[in-house]
Amino acid sequence: MDFRPKILDALKEKEGAWVSGEALSDILNVSRTTIWKQVKRLQTEGYGIESSSKKGYRLSASPDLLSPDEVFPGLETRVFGRQHYIYYQEIDSTNNLARELASEGYPEGTVVVAETQTAGRGRRGRNWYSPGRQGIYVSIVLRPKLPLMDISRITLVSAAAVAETLEKDLQLQPKIKWPNDILVNNKKMAGILAEAVTDMDSIEFIVVGIGLNINNQAGDFPSDFKMNATSALAENGQPASRVKTLQALLARFEGYYFQLTEGNFAPTLQKCRNLSLVLGQQVRLDTINGFLSGQAIGIDENGFLMVRDHSGIIHTVISGEITVLPPSTAP
Ligand code: BTN
Repeated sequence: MDFRPKILDALKEKEGAWVSGEALSDILNVSRTTIWKQVKRLQTEGYGIESSSKKGYRLSASPDLLSPDEVFPGLETRVFGRQHYIYYQEIDSTNNLARELASEGYPEGTVVVAETQTAGRGRRGRNWYSPGRQGIYVSIVLRPKLPLMDISRITLVSAAAVAETLEKDLQLQPKIKWPNDILVNNKKMAGILAEAVTDMDSIEFIVVGIGLNINNQAGDFPSDFKMNATSALAENGQPASRVKTLQALLARFEGYYFQLTEGNFAPTLQKCRNLSLVLGQQVRLDTINGFLSGQAIGIDENGFLMVRDHSGIIHTVISGEITVLPPSTAP
């Protein structure tokens, strides 16, 4: 049996004071040898637990792991991560597992988190660089009772939540590159992969996968990312708590999401407009209908991008890959 969570609870409750092996074995009703073995496991996971034959055990440092033991105590969500918080040291892709679970009927708010991904996926078949214990790789199952058209709004809800987390919890100045890339100083810090499974005219479920670069050293990104990627560490010059960032992200996401499902998309829209990288800029869009160039002039009530082309026609774009053109190269 796994007694680690209970040992941690007991040590955390004493806030750095010594707890005797005898007291622990009484609380958990197991032998002192069992306690000792489980403490060894916690130490290998990164917990700083001092041990003394006379005084027992003392917790001096907790690792910044996204395990339920670390994340639950400060998690302020109502639904997200409450019933199912599924945690892996290593996984191919949290989106893959979340999709499987959603197909099996797992409920809204199921959260899948991993310390590293071996096949993290980005949009358009790209990879998502997912080194161990440096970023946040999380997928959330949503089952909104909304029309198909509202899928775009959910994309913006995710972007608003991620951007607000960077702004308020990591003291950064993020920009949203419509619909859902989050940039800081023109470099990508977070990406969102929303994958929907739909019936004829309704949404069966959506998995929103978020990748957030937290404690990556600037020079550690693979060469094809280096120029365009950044992390909280690279921008702030100091590491950030992944645990606190994930707690904040889930709470902010849940907040914006339930506003949307209750019919209030205005706060998301306002956040996305305020932090937009593209509004007012000359852009080039790669859409399913081909390329489109012009000025991004607005985000409408559905979350669609409005672009005025060079003959003055206004196009409403539902989704696409956007490139912001430097003013000098704008046609
Ligand atoms: C993008 O910007 O192209 C989207 C990147 C999304 C990456 C996240 S990491 C967690 C989740 N699992 C995946 O395989 N992808 C998403």
